[in-house]
Parts: sequence; C-alpha cells; structure tokens
Amino acid sequence: MTLKNDLLLRAARGEKTERTPVWLMRQAGRILAEYRAVREKAGSFISLATTPELAAEVTIQPVDILGVDAAIIFSDILVIPEAMGLPYEMIEKRGPWFPNPVQTQADVDRLKVSDAETDLGYVLEAIRITKRDLNNRVPLIGFAGAPWTIFAYMIEGSGSKTFSKAKRMLYTDPQLSHTLLQKITDSTIAYLKGQITAGADLIQIFDSWAGILSPEQYRTFSLPYLKQICAAIQEVPKTVFAKDAWFARAEIAQLECDTIGLDWTMNPAESRQLVGLNKTLQGNLDPCVLYADYQTIEKEVKNMLKAFGPQRHIANLGHGVYPDTDPDKVRCFIETVKAYSH
Ligand code: CP3
Repeated sequence: MTLKNDLLLRAARGEKTERTPVWLMRQAGRILAEYRAVREKAGSFISLATTPELAAEVTIQPVDILGVDAAIIFSDILVIPEAMGLPYEMIEKRGPWFPNPVQTQADVDRLKVSDAETDLGYVLEAIRITKRDLNNRVPLIGFAGAPWTIFAYMIEGSGSKTFSKAKRMLYTDPQLSHTLLQKITDSTIAYLKGQITAGADLIQIFDSWAGILSPEQYRTFSLPYLKQICAAIQEVPKTVFAKDAWFARAEIAQLECDTIGLDWTMNPAESRQLVGLNKTLQGNLDPCVLYADYQTIEKEVKNMLKAFGPQRHIANLGHGVYPDTDPDKVRCFIETVKAYSH
C-alpha cells in the first residue's frame, strides 16, 4: 500500500523532498473539457457530486491530464450544511443558494450533528473508489470547510461580498453563533475522520471567508473551532488555508496542523518568519498569472519557488484556479515546478 509518489506527504511532514510537490486548488473542474463532459452526463453539479463513480472519475482526471502530485476528492464544502439538515442548490453561473438560511435559535435547534457514514456516505464511497482507481499513484486529499466559513453560508444563504448577515449574527447573538459553530465543528470532525477511514491521505480545511473578520472576531469565532478540529485529527497531515487572514498567521501557526496555505498577498519570507520553521507552507501564485504568456508564467513560478526555498513547500496557487484558465497554462505552471531544481 505504499504510494509511488509521496512527495506531498513528505513535504507536509517536513521530510526531505527531491523536488517541490505541486497541485492546484479547484483542479478538478471547469478548466477541463473532460470534466465538462462528465458534468453534462450527470446533469448538475449536485448529481455529479453525489454519484460516487462519477465523482471519482473527475477526481482522477487532473492526475492523468495535468500530472499533478495529488488528487483532491471532488465534492464541495457545502455538503456539511446539507448533511446537518440545511439543503442547498447550485445555481448555474451564480453559485450556492440555501432556500432556508438559519435565522433563529429554533433553526439552530432543528439542525443535527451529522453522521459521516449515514449522511455523507456518498463522499466516503467516492473516496474508496478513487483510492482503488488511483492505484497508489499519488496521495488523495480530503477536505472540509472551516466552521466559520460554513456558518457564513448557512446564515447568509448564498455567497456575498460582505457576508454582513453572517457578521451581524456574530455581533447580535454570539450565543447562537457559538452553538451553531460547535454543531458544525462536531459534524466536521466526524466527517473528516470518515474521509480518513475511507482512504484520504491528507486533509485540508478551507477557511475561505477568514479575511472578512477582524483579528478579534477571528480569534473568537474561527480559531477555537479550528483548534478543536486539528486536535481531533491525528491520523494524517493537516493543512489550514485561511484566505486573506494575513493578520492571523502567527496564531494559525499555533494550531496542531502541519501545513499553512498562503494566498498571493502573503509574502513567503515574512510568512516563514511569522510561523517559524516547524510548518510547511503551501501556495501562493496569483491565479491571474496563468492568464499571462508562457515566459511570464515560467518567470513568476521560478520567483515563487526561490522565495519559498526547496524544502517545506508545497507549490499551489493562492486560491482556486479560475474556470476560464487555459489548461495548457496550468500545465506550464506544473511543468515549471517539476523542472526547477534549486
Ligand atoms: O478540485 C477541487 O478542488 C475539488 C472540488 C471542490 C469544489 N469546491 C468543487 C466545485 C472544492 C475543494 C471546493 C471547495 C469550496 N466550495 C470552497 C472552498 C475553496 C474556495 O474556493 O475558497 C468554497 C468557498 C465552496 C463553495 C462554492 N462551491 C462556491 C462559492 C461555488 C460557486 C462558485 C465557484 O467557484 O464555482 C461552488 C461550486 C463548485 N464547487 C463548482 C465546483 C467544480 C462549480 C460548479 C459546477 O461545476 O457547476
């Protein structure tokens, strides 16, 4: 059961790697014509995500087509609210939408702590099929949203520039907020443990809306729940990616995680200084660099690799790849990382 390519896991654990491993957030998706074909066959995003054979197929596509050093299970962070009793829809070109967002304590009381096997069995099955079909070529990444980011969608009911409804709840009803955050956390821990039992080799927590909180709010409403999750998961390496939370890097470094994800606003040397030597850093090329010509992409990727140095770095973008990116430019990003030797 040993992996043929375990660069990602060695980098995460702080072991020596002969080159920097590389993968992309949102690599399984709309950049690939092969994804769009399977998505068409499934009919909708949600039916694709809930059909394990198809989810496994699109999970493996970037490994075959792009040559990345890891697969990430095809799913969404919003499966947790759904499993807790708050269903969502994915509106074409607009994004997620919750018909009944959480507004009152009674709404919170109606939600349950979800069970991984009974409520999210389709994701676990997709992981098992993916592991079988990957045949140990590369590690498989499991994931979940951070409790704060999940809370933001459950209260707001959709995406938003400001998430002002969700932030209003933090100020007007901190008690309701903590009760809901704890229910999300308990559901998430069970879910991640289920993913690991099913075969996930590393897990990543996406705190996509970290950056809209003040440092004080982040300390109160996000970090304590991330801390519980990191403490509960001991089986595999853990990555925390808190988008735009440049102000919280030193505190995130106190979590029991192995890797910290950086977006493109976070300077690699400054981040290393803030988090110390005992964490791996992941990131952080601006996804918009992939709109440039090949020469510029190569130059920018090499600058990034130099800035992070040869060890304890996992190359990635600073956020998910944008859907209108040319797959050949993505390939250029990956090939440049692979060819670069320090
Ligand atoms: O390749 C991978 O990274 C695995 C798949 C994955 C998806 N969503 C599939 C998806 C992952 C890791 C996610 C995480 C996710 N989902 C996050 C955290 C990462 C981030 O971007 O900050 C968030 C915030 C969501 C919520 C979400 N899902 C939004 C806001 C949207 C609509 C806008 C968008 O970016 O597409 C989705 C839809 C979604 N999730 C799609 C995919 C492939 C597009 C739907 C489609 O194909 O029709």
